[in-house]
Amino acid sequence: MFSAALPLLFLLLIHGSAHSVSSESEAGSKTTLGPHCTTNPPTLDPASGAGHVGKLAGFNTYFSGSLQSKLAVLLASDVYGYETPNLRKIADKVAAAGFYAAVPDFFYGEPFNPNNTARPKDAWLKDHSPEKGFKDAKLMVRALKSKGASKVGAAGFCWGAKAVIELAKIADVQAAVILHPSFVTADDIKGVKVPLAVLSGELDGAYPPKLLKEFDDILRSNKIDRFVKMFPKCSHGWTLRYNASDPAAVSRANIAHQDLLKWFTKHLK
Ligand SMILES: *[C@@H]1O[C@H](CO)[C@@H](O)[C@H](O)[C@H]1NC(C)=O
Ligand SMILES: *[C@@H]1O[C@H](CO)[C@@H](O)[C@H](O)[C@H]1NC(C)=O
Repeated sequence: MFSAALPLLFLLLIHGSAHSVSSESEAGSKTTLGPHCTTNPPTLDPASGAGHVGKLAGFNTYFSGSLQSKLAVLLASDVYGYETPNLRKIADKVAAAGFYAAVPDFFYGEPFNPNNTARPKDAWLKDHSPEKGFKDAKLMVRALKSKGASKVGAAGFCWGAKAVIELAKIADVQAAVILHPSFVTADDIKGVKVPLAVLSGELDGAYPPKLLKEFDDILRSNKIDRFVKMFPKCSHGWTLRYNASDPAAVSRANIAHQDLLKWFTKHLK
């Protein structure tokens, strides 16, 4: 079903025509990282989180929780990678909800660093393409299964959403969540074969209400269990790169985290 934000969505659709969106599928399919993907960089902390760092499928990975439940959740990061404290906090929440959370370093020790002028965005992205992320995510899912996971869910943030949507297209996971995605197009949504939640911010210019509505229509007509929600007043990145000293921002992020947990609880347990 479409979320409770539905009336708002249609309000936006009706009154939002002044904000013309050139082409909706074009809007979602940019192959470069927009400025919104790299603002408010986090302060990375390799020691953050309640879990621990280990290796899986050759990747340094942050783990939280236990595999006793046999239910695993793979979290694919945004461009700032697996040492982002707020991402590890989400992994800890996933663990507290009864899942084994795994946050791999898909950037091989080189998360995007906006200060590094020798590695501008496009050059960095060339070496860390979402396609490579998908290949690596498949290796991680396989490794989690061989460790004993009977079901695996995947959640992807910004950059990581593309890898996760590809997993959802080959039904390599049992449920998926994409949060403020990048690179994900309506064509991708057409190929999705597993329950999918799409969490997007109202202020995210790359995913305007019209495009989100299109995603919802596609999933409905393909009879894919879905949860498509637009978060009022939220910008791209709000679930991860929020200001921890701003209670309203923290609360907006927490609502998205709860939606993510509910989705995996519904479809993996
Ligand atoms: C980038 O530079 C700013 C300002 O000097 C600094 O606070 C921040 O930690 C640096 N970020 C990284 C990833 O090196
Ligand atoms: C974060 O939020 C606090 C409290 O609202 C505010 O004082 C501070 O300026 C904010 N920091 C940034 C970087 O926006």
